[in-house]
Amino acid sequence: MQALVLLLWTGALLGHSSCQSVASSPESSAAPDSTGEPAEEEDPFFKVPVNKLAASVSNFGYDLYRTRSSESPAANVLLSPLSVATALSALSLGEWKGSWLCMDLPLLRVKSSFVAPLEKSYGTRPRILTGNPRVDLQEINNWVQAQMKGRIARSTREMPSDISVLLLGVAYFKGQWVTKFDPRKTSLQDFHLDEERTVRVPMMSDPKAILRYGLDSDLNCKIAQLPLTGSTSIIFFLPLTVTQNLTMIEESLTSEFIHDIDRELKTIQAVLTIPKMKLSYEGEVTKSLKDMKLQSLFESPDFSKITGKPVKLTQVEHRAGFEWTEEGAGTSPSPGLQPVRLTFPLDYHLNRPFIFVLRDTDTGALLFIGKILDPRGT
Ligand SMILES: *[C@@H]1O[C@H](CO)[C@@H](O)[C@H](O)[C@H]1NC(C)=O
Repeated sequence: MQALVLLLWTGALLGHSSCQSVASSPESSAAPDSTGEPAEEEDPFFKVPVNKLAASVSNFGYDLYRTRSSESPAANVLLSPLSVATALSALSLGEWKGSWLCMDLPLLRVKSSFVAPLEKSYGTRPRILTGNPRVDLQEINNWVQAQMKGRIARSTREMPSDISVLLLGVAYFKGQWVTKFDPRKTSLQDFHLDEERTVRVPMMSDPKAILRYGLDSDLNCKIAQLPLTGSTSIIFFLPLTVTQNLTMIEESLTSEFIHDIDRELKTIQAVLTIPKMKLSYEGEVTKSLKDMKLQSLFESPDFSKITGKPVKLTQVEHRAGFEWTEEGAGTSPSPGLQPVRLTFPLDYHLNRPFIFVLRDTDTGALLFIGKILDPRGT
């Protein structure tokens, strides 16, 4: 059997720096094909090269999310598309680096011209697997555990036996709110899974939260944005009614749409409740990538610069962990945020299925995206 190569890449624990690494690398093969969309007048924001690159990598992410979500309509989805995109672009290093030294590795020769830039840019090395699925799964698990310091659950999935190149993107995010929640206000409250089923989950509350808000009457949802530390922020899309069908919102997600929303939201004061959550997600994104017409990644990749042997990309996997608790930087909202005066109090209760989008505030790069149908993570 053909020896195995395993490429591993880890997303930064706080997301922000991973954005930097993508922003500074050449445009990756993961960027979606140009679809010849009508040339509308371009927002100056997207003329800045870093923002433009972030937008195209993010649009790849929104597409990947949609594909994953439609494959599992009744389950939570949690993705760090940036980590998948970065892992894919790590492969493209095999295509643009030159010199031809070979390193001696037990099973497969991996060219050091590939390894060195990979290590430099992504802090990772390709690993050689043994071909024994059990040993290999353990090796991958050990690596993930070491990288993520135990924050992501060990995988029990079976390793396919016919892998040639497996690409694994791992990312973990622990949200730090700019304004922390008071743990004494956290209590068990109802979360409506759908029209019939309700579960009790720990909900954090802030009776006087300052957030950016908007009502989208086309999408029938209430949108709210909360700032996180490290110049990131999270945008929630909460349907007005309890439904697991979030297709309409999902269909509209693009970098440009989110950018426009970001501009239109108004700062207000609201009664806010958010489920306290800790979620892990693992899945193969191979099929999704193929469905996204990135088939060529698997069919004819030029790996000749990675190794002299004939290898093929056979599998792309993703593991992600996400957590938010009451923790945050401070107790009062940042100065300068003057809420619009409302004549009636506004409620924002994330007590039914919702979508969240976590972005880098400066570039708009999509760091995490999630569909939360059940905050208990089942
Ligand atoms: C979900 O909603 C979309 C748009 O509103 C609709 O076209 C679709 O049929 C719905 N899907 C299901 C499974 O109900």
